[in-house]
Amino acid sequence: MYNGPLVNIFCFQAGHLPGKVRGLIDLLLEEQTKERASGGAVVLTDECLQALILEMIAAALVTTLCSESAIMLCLINHPEWQTRIHTELDAVVGRGRRPRLEDRERCPVLEAVVLETQRLITVIPLCGPHYCKENISFEGYDIPAGSMVKQLMN
Ligand code: HEM
Repeated sequence: MYNGPLVNIFCFQAGHLPGKVRGLIDLLLEEQTKERASGGAVVLTDECLQALILEMIAAALVTTLCSESAIMLCLINHPEWQTRIHTELDAVVGRGRRPRLEDRERCPVLEAVVLETQRLITVIPLCGPHYCKENISFEGYDIPAGSMVKQLMN
């Protein structure tokens, strides 16, 4: 059984060419190099980068997977909406190419199904805690500085 870290930062370091930023991980590695060269305190340690990458993967994977499962569940129970989405996709995208992001604004039925599913089955009903740095007024609530805020998403 594999007992090492879930994200092996050394794989990313090995593939990184200094000065060439292909994405978020290269950007973090560039910043880490700058921090180390500055001679000051190093915040972006290897462990910190591992945690950041793992957080990103976990945040993206679970939410997307659960959202897609929720949409499938709703569509299985409402096949007439499957037909409506199919008709819309055939008209907007056709059968000869893959869908593109720009197609999205011309697919109001699909958009409505995604939004309605997120409303009906909220995959993250309760957000993690947030710390309020200053006194604020929001939606009729006065929230004093130093409060912990946990927002309900549904
Ligand atoms: C349907 C899909 C998704 C849903 C429902 C979702 C939902 C959320 C929610 C509710 C939060 C907390 C916001 C807050 O507390 O203020 C959050 C934060 C976050 N999400 Fe997502 N997310 C989704 C997809 C993704 C994807 C694809 C990524 C990365 C590629 C991602 C990365 C993050 C990160 C990094 C944070 C923390 C942001 C911060 O506080 O600085 N999420 N997401």
